[in-house]
Amino acid sequence: MLNLKDVHVHIGKLHILQGVNLQVKPGECAALLGRNGVGKTTTLRAIMGLARRSGGTVEFEGFDLASCEPHEIPRRGVGYVPQGRGIFPNLTVLENLCIGLPGRRDLEREEYVFGCFPRLEERLKQSGGTLSGGEQQMLALARCLMMRPKLIILDEPTEGIMPRLVSQIRREIHRINQAGVSILLVEQNVETALKLCPRVFLMEKGAIVYNGTAHELKSKPEIVRRYLGLSKQ
Ligand SMILES: Nc1ncnc2c1ncn2[C@@H]1O[C@H](COP(=O)(O)OP(=O)(O)OP(=O)(O)O)[C@@H](O)[C@H]1O
Ligand SMILES: [Mg+2]
Repeated sequence: MLNLKDVHVHIGKLHILQGVNLQVKPGECAALLGRNGVGKTTTLRAIMGLARRSGGTVEFEGFDLASCEPHEIPRRGVGYVPQGRGIFPNLTVLENLCIGLPGRRDLEREEYVFGCFPRLEERLKQSGGTLSGGEQQMLALARCLMMRPKLIILDEPTEGIMPRLVSQIRREIHRINQAGVSILLVEQNVETALKLCPRVFLMEKGAIVYNGTAHELKSKPEIVRRYLGLSKQ
């Protein structure tokens, strides 16, 4: 479904992505893990057309995303929840939710999304900036769901969020995946990632250095230690 082949990104003189190969199959839930600064966010931005590629291809359902403008990519079925959430603080919850949608409100979809995140329905007229961090994360995910994505790309959705909301967000990601939406998740919390994602990619210095199942990885603590460090276990 999503296929990155030998993707390179240069920023200025820095060679940030040095040939990333990564695949997400239909219905799969995959994690992309690695230490700070190895290029996880840049990989996601390269998929979404937000970081300019200097080599390689990104295909989604056999279609080369390089021929799309960045704003067309969500319409093709790829949703993106960026690191830091990207909520518009001065718009209301409802306005934030509907921002990517053309024309009329999609009430049927809103009902589904509020079923996932009832807290948001209680706060429709509240401005985005006054939501808690966890609520903003839910709103970012809800906004992405409004576009009926086939694949959702999430960049550290539980960063800096209190444990009670973390488990709710984790549960919703699992439910969304169970409903048939593929997931590519960047996550600092290795335990969360391995619980949620049967497929794991490990990244180091701008390239994928390990691709295997979470099950395999659990029996290889030396690999986890080498690429993720003890502090993240
Ligand atoms: N616009 C930019 N200008 C200069 N350097 C950049 C830019 N964007 C990213 N980088 C560098 O590219 C490298 C990879 O950054 P990236 O944000 O992809 O890492 P990451 O794996 O997501 O890290 P983290 O876990 O901290 O979020 C870092 O060294 C970063 O400093
Ligand atoms: Mg990042």
